[in-house]
Amino acid sequence: MTAYVIETRELTKFFGKRNIIYHLNLRVPKGAVYGFLGPNGAGKTTTIKMLTAALKPTYGEIKIFDLEMPRERVEIMKKVGYMPEQPIAYEDMTIAEFLTYMGRLLGLPKEEAVRQARDLMAYAGVGKLAFNRIKELSSGQRQRVAFAAALIGEPELLILDEPTANLDPLGRIEFIGKVLELAKAGKTIFISSHIVSEVEKMCNYVGLIKEGQLIDQGRVRELVNVEGTDYDIVVSDNSKLLEFLKDQIYVREAWEEEGVVRVKLDERFSERFFVEVPAFIAGEGLALKLFKSHTSPLERILMKRFNMGWEE
Ligand SMILES: Nc1ncnc2c1ncn2[C@@H]1O[C@H](COP(=O)(O)OP(=O)(O)OP(=O)(O)O)[C@@H](O)[C@H]1O
Ligand SMILES: [Mg+2]
Repeated sequence: MTAYVIETRELTKFFGKRNIIYHLNLRVPKGAVYGFLGPNGAGKTTTIKMLTAALKPTYGEIKIFDLEMPRERVEIMKKVGYMPEQPIAYEDMTIAEFLTYMGRLLGLPKEEAVRQARDLMAYAGVGKLAFNRIKELSSGQRQRVAFAAALIGEPELLILDEPTANLDPLGRIEFIGKVLELAKAGKTIFISSHIVSEVEKMCNYVGLIKEGQLIDQGRVRELVNVEGTDYDIVVSDNSKLLEFLKDQIYVREAWEEEGVVRVKLDERFSERFFVEVPAFIAGEGLALKLFKSHTSPLERILMKRFNMGWEE
């Protein structure tokens, strides 16, 4: 029995002679919100298709809930909600018909399928479009329907391939809230994306894929490298803190900017920084209002590992 909901070993895919995925060892713990990040063409969709048995691996192993994919796909897919990159084929159905049909395919009794379709349409923000045909929908509306479809049958694991690609800004914010809600309810969620700021808000684990290879994986918190980092601190008396910081060995530079104390950390002594600064603040009886890294940790990891610019 493994601790992972998704575990792959040496997962590899060739298209003809082109090696698209190399020896991928994914590990997605139970309850994780796992962000699968990588540039266009890195192999995210190809990997996800193998995880959901839409594509057969060239070699390597996939285990989901300790069952073997694709051999035990029927059993596995009962517990998986999958949102593909290019969703929905049933163009002539209405949204209500489509979602009910999907529920029936999963083996739900008629009434339950109808109930879930209705609830999920409202949840995904397409309740008013229930009787519109799929072919009449905008790309963002389709994506909302596909999200609703992935949630039918209350799956324990969600596999979502760029679920926010076509959503409007408000839709994106709502989506993030929903992912966090689902995570709180104990679901494991695997999301591919290239939008760092979104992944940062939703995910506690990340896997970074570049040219078909997993170049890093783990808890966001543990991957965060504090080297050369700026920190932002606000306390009830900034000047007192600033005076203290200026004499400390772990501070390269400290200054105040728009009411925020910015510290350029000397990474060799970062341990002491994290112990001594909070101790000073508490010792002086100062109120701590803000303490955070100035750049987003994930962004820093990505810039380092991919050595490339990332759009928002
Ligand atoms: N059916 C196919 N036959 C041949 N090559 C393919 C096929 N599907 C994908 N590829 C190639 O595999 C590579 C990975 O594609 P994939 O769709 O997995 O990338 P991705 O990470 O999902 O990218 P994006 O962010 O653009 O969605 C690309 O170079 C693509 O051209
Ligand atoms: Mg893709």
